[in-house]
Amino acid sequence: MLAALGSAVGLGNVWRFSYVAGENGGGAFLLVYLLMVLLVGVPLLLGEFALGRSTQAESSTAIAKLLPVRWRHLGLLGVLSSVMVLAYYAVIAGWVLKYLALYLFSSTHRLSDPGFATAFEAHIAQPVEPLIWQLMAILLAVAVITRGVEKGIERINLVLMPTLGLLLLGLAIHSVSQPGFMQGIHFLFQPDWRVLTRPEVYLAALGQAFFSIGLAMGVMVAYGSYLPSNQRLPGAALSVALGDALFAILAGLVVFAAVFSFGLDPAQGPGLAFVVLPEVFANMTGGAIVGSAFFLLLAIAAMTSMVSLLEVQTAFAMKKLGWSRQRAALVLGGLAFVLGVPASLGFGVWSEVASTGGRGILDLMDLLAVELMLPLNGLLLALLLGWVWPGKEALQACDLHTGRLGQLWLFLVRYVIPLMLAMVLASSMVSG
Ligand code: PHE
Repeated sequence: MLAALGSAVGLGNVWRFSYVAGENGGGAFLLVYLLMVLLVGVPLLLGEFALGRSTQAESSTAIAKLLPVRWRHLGLLGVLSSVMVLAYYAVIAGWVLKYLALYLFSSTHRLSDPGFATAFEAHIAQPVEPLIWQLMAILLAVAVITRGVEKGIERINLVLMPTLGLLLLGLAIHSVSQPGFMQGIHFLFQPDWRVLTRPEVYLAALGQAFFSIGLAMGVMVAYGSYLPSNQRLPGAALSVALGDALFAILAGLVVFAAVFSFGLDPAQGPGLAFVVLPEVFANMTGGAIVGSAFFLLLAIAAMTSMVSLLEVQTAFAMKKLGWSRQRAALVLGGLAFVLGVPASLGFGVWSEVASTGGRGILDLMDLLAVELMLPLNGLLLALLLGWVWPGKEALQACDLHTGRLGQLWLFLVRYVIPLMLAMVLASSMVSG
């Protein structure tokens, strides 16, 4: 379960949650996001766990076991989405590695320079250096997979998750003393109800829930297959989903308290956490040490997420193409790197290419994956769980049997989730 939580907790909780919440009005977004986690995230996560544990197979095989022959390739959609996500995820993981190196090796004097945060923009705009960090992030993940030490990496979560949680908690407590703390609290917890009339907020919240838990890509099916038969799945799904949300809220607290303390813009986009956090560390005693620890933990958290994304693809290629583990991990890692290059260059030399609507290439890839591919996969997953898998079998696999909770789960995956996903997807198509 800690391994599943380790896959769930990553850049999505710190980098993505903070900027998406910032762009979508804070409190109202948080509310819709939590609703999506409970109504859509938990039931689908439970379904993925159940699918994995009962079939004891990786996702494409697990899905194929349930489906008639001509639908058997549906599992491919999840794999394709994981390819897309891994490609740009590695770019951000590269930023984290760069920061880690800076905090570890720069002089404290430089790190407390307030101009440090803006230097970030200059860093990501360079054509070559960010690519090197991105490549390093991918190579680390490939090394873990080719050596077959995923289980070892996942065991690191035993230490990593509590430590990262405590560090975030410590930072959140520290931010109480900041001048912008109350404003940050208001922004994150006081919903501006007018925001709820904007349809894109629902899509953003839904996408964030999928991304942050790591749903609809088959990753959680794999973790389900490791869960012991005496583990009660509903409790596992609830703890992983809520634990993941808690990490995001803590990170959000730290980020938004700082945003208002330093007079920054909460809606400035994907760079938010990377611009704000250095300000926090620059303005605290021992900031260089705390900053090093923070970026080290975040880098490991990103790594465990990347490993689980690459593992799904590797397992797929081994099974379907008969490739060796080494070959699969190397080729797929190479593919992720190549696909991620435009995402990185989009912050500099290619910034003109996708600047329609003020979005860069990475942003567009993220939008495509998180607001289109994942909800679509989620819709298919819900239909698979609710309509294709015989209800009795599904409930049994979910440890729900036939009680009230079981009926609720069936009702959610059969009607509520497909309807919600279809509506949110339709509204995103309409709004372009
Ligand atoms: N959930 C991870 C995060 O929040 C990203 C991820 C997505 C990992 C999908 C695995 C699968 O950073």
